[in-house]
Amino acid sequence: MRTRVLPLAVLLLGCLPALPQSAQGKPLLNGAEFSAGGTVLRIMALREDVLRVRMWREGHEPEDASWAVLPTARTAQVAVTPAAGGFETGALRVTVDAQLRLTVADKAGHVLQQDSEPVTWTGNRFRIRKKKSPDEHFFGLGDKPGPLDRAGQAFVMWNTDSFGWQESTDPIYKSIPFFISFQSGAAMGVLFDNTWRSFFDFGRELPDAYSFGAPDGPIDYYLLYGPEPKRVVESYAWLTGPTPLPPLWSLGFQQSRYSYEPESRLMEVANKLRADHIPADALYLDIDFQEKNRPFTVDQIKFPKFSQMVSDLARQQFHLVVITDLHIAHLPNAGYAPYDSGAAGDHFVKNPDGTTYVGPVWPGPSVFPDFTQESTRAWWGTLYKDFATQKVAGFWNDMNEPAVFTYPTKTMPDDVQHRIDEPGFARRTATHLEIHNVFGMENSRATYEGLLKLMPDQRPFVLTRASYAGGQRYAATWTGDNSSTWNHMRQTVPQLLNLGLSGFSMSGADVGGFAGSPSPDLLTRWLQLAAFQPIDRDHAAKGTRDHEPWVDGPQHEAIRRRFIEERYKLMPYLYTAAEETSRTGVPIMRPLFLEFPHATVDGHPLDLDAGGGEYMFGPDLLIAPSPSPEEVAPYEVHLPPGVWYDYWTGAKLDRRTAVAARDLEIRDTAAQAKPVMVTPKLEELPVYVHEGAILPLAPLMQSTSETPKGALTLRVYPGDHCAGSLYQDDGSTFAYTRGAYLRMSFTCEQRSDGTVKVHLGKREGSFQPWWKQIRVEVMGGPQGPRMQTVNDNGQETDVDVR
Ligand code: NOJ
Repeated sequence: MRTRVLPLAVLLLGCLPALPQSAQGKPLLNGAEFSAGGTVLRIMALREDVLRVRMWREGHEPEDASWAVLPTARTAQVAVTPAAGGFETGALRVTVDAQLRLTVADKAGHVLQQDSEPVTWTGNRFRIRKKKSPDEHFFGLGDKPGPLDRAGQAFVMWNTDSFGWQESTDPIYKSIPFFISFQSGAAMGVLFDNTWRSFFDFGRELPDAYSFGAPDGPIDYYLLYGPEPKRVVESYAWLTGPTPLPPLWSLGFQQSRYSYEPESRLMEVANKLRADHIPADALYLDIDFQEKNRPFTVDQIKFPKFSQMVSDLARQQFHLVVITDLHIAHLPNAGYAPYDSGAAGDHFVKNPDGTTYVGPVWPGPSVFPDFTQESTRAWWGTLYKDFATQKVAGFWNDMNEPAVFTYPTKTMPDDVQHRIDEPGFARRTATHLEIHNVFGMENSRATYEGLLKLMPDQRPFVLTRASYAGGQRYAATWTGDNSSTWNHMRQTVPQLLNLGLSGFSMSGADVGGFAGSPSPDLLTRWLQLAAFQPIDRDHAAKGTRDHEPWVDGPQHEAIRRRFIEERYKLMPYLYTAAEETSRTGVPIMRPLFLEFPHATVDGHPLDLDAGGGEYMFGPDLLIAPSPSPEEVAPYEVHLPPGVWYDYWTGAKLDRRTAVAARDLEIRDTAAQAKPVMVTPKLEELPVYVHEGAILPLAPLMQSTSETPKGALTLRVYPGDHCAGSLYQDDGSTFAYTRGAYLRMSFTCEQRSDGTVKVHLGKREGSFQPWWKQIRVEVMGGPQGPRMQTVNDNGQETDVDVR
């Protein structure tokens, strides 16, 4: 166990004079309820370390329902012990003062969170204000651009179509009202489950307070105690559901453009990827494959043999993803089945006067399914029948903020009516103001659930642009219409990290940038970096130059290929990380503080020292891109304490001299704290591995559909806590839930005679892998890696590597 260093601020906060007189609470089995001045505050313990806080004005208790939180978690309870002014759980102490100000402390009495003033309402608008320490940091809030740490900034939640968004643009596509406060190595998560246009302020208005509120809707928030930040992220997945295990192919390289057309152009791209040996798994069709941009149609002139084309692509081991936007063309009596069946089932949202709301989007005048109705979602799912029969592999739900053209607000009017008909909710009409932020999530849910119904044993792949908290249950996501600039490439790191902390582990940014044309160097650097990000999708806007890996000549292509190849070799490691996410919620791409919360002496997140946006890709790889990638210039890499290896050479780093050197034993903390200076050339991206890691790798493949030829490689980086694991299955079905998976764990031990004993655990599960042999590579030796290959019979084995 690492010890927590408490800074003065926490100690002072912890010793604040007693709060003014406690409130008289009504004890509940699982919490307590307090009333004062016409306001009721109810705090419930869902678990020892998870609280739910609800507050309302007497007589106006809000509906107890949620789009985000799983019913099982929302109604979970543990018994609490009543205490003066509140109660205690196994992990927390809760007190409420006479003005209903809430204080949450750990069992040692350290205050973790404290209201700085009573909650006040202005009409239906309210704000909750909490004390903020000078060294408190904030992470999460989904895809909002800007620095990793949200401290000092303010944000609004309102899903918005934001073509060409910049670092300071807010809001953009998603509303994930979840953040993690982090102080001195200790973390606390807050999910503010209010779907209205909520707002967050992390010390921008007042330096010593942070706040959140909304113009309407409930005061309903959840506190998730760490202290380890990983624990908070895991609890968030418990509360809102984890990301399902994705199909393996979705972790491969994906090539997209707005738009590949006609069919011959798409096939040309497919053929070139294979001819040039650039590994790839997915190709995308954007809106122009449809007839007049009408969702669920195919333009028969541009794509005359659509079904044949999908099978031809499959033969070349490509998966096809097609766009299916939610706006249905408003085409009464024209034989357009999605409109006709939607109108017959009364599935479209309405104006206050009861007429169907019609707004302009890509197909011209369009209507919008009311995804808040279970029956509408079920109907939407049926629209995928033909594509499912044709074996289209994935679906892209774009424009689902929803984007509507011509209005200055870029969306439908506030008074559009939704008719909620959803298990757990009262049947009622809600205005768009309440539903707007969950609309995109419910769209992706309808797609995901519809695909499951059509193909019950296939893992769906849905890519959504808009979402809300919990949306990770249904879809992967991307950061929308970014730009082809160096700054936007840099921006991918904090944005994807915050998305991962907000539940969205399967996320990516348009590689090369959407708006504008990247320079050859920018595209090369971006393809390098994205090879180490969860979704690796190259995408470009109309009218921009070609973006495919080969476009800038053989030298650039060779560098780009090498990085994509590295991703494919790491596929067993990446898939194992994706499986971890699906069980625990810990994202694939992680900030350093998630793995190393105590990396600095004063407990601040090490990420903040790393100007270029270092991050962990899975549990073991540290990626260290340059803070100024537009030039080849030296910069510092801040590595967490411990021994680190250079991923590319396998050499152990000498952190005293900050150069790679073999076979060094460095345990001196001062030396460990020293940053490493690097100057990567265009063809280089610094990647490090921490001691004790064991990485599973595969022989190079051109597609994840290919069966790799050769042994499974285990790359062992000897050191403390030496362990690794491997997860495999068929990569596409749910057979793993019926036992057809493989799980193995590995450990290593350095012996005094210099040999390394690698222990291969027993294979768990009935899945038969492609490999028959395991090649163990021990890194860091004076003569480079030492190797040994063994036949694997599924039983426990020890391998001695000399
Ligand atoms: C907006 C999306 O963000 C972009 O990725 C897509 O290419 C266009 N819509 C056209 O569908």
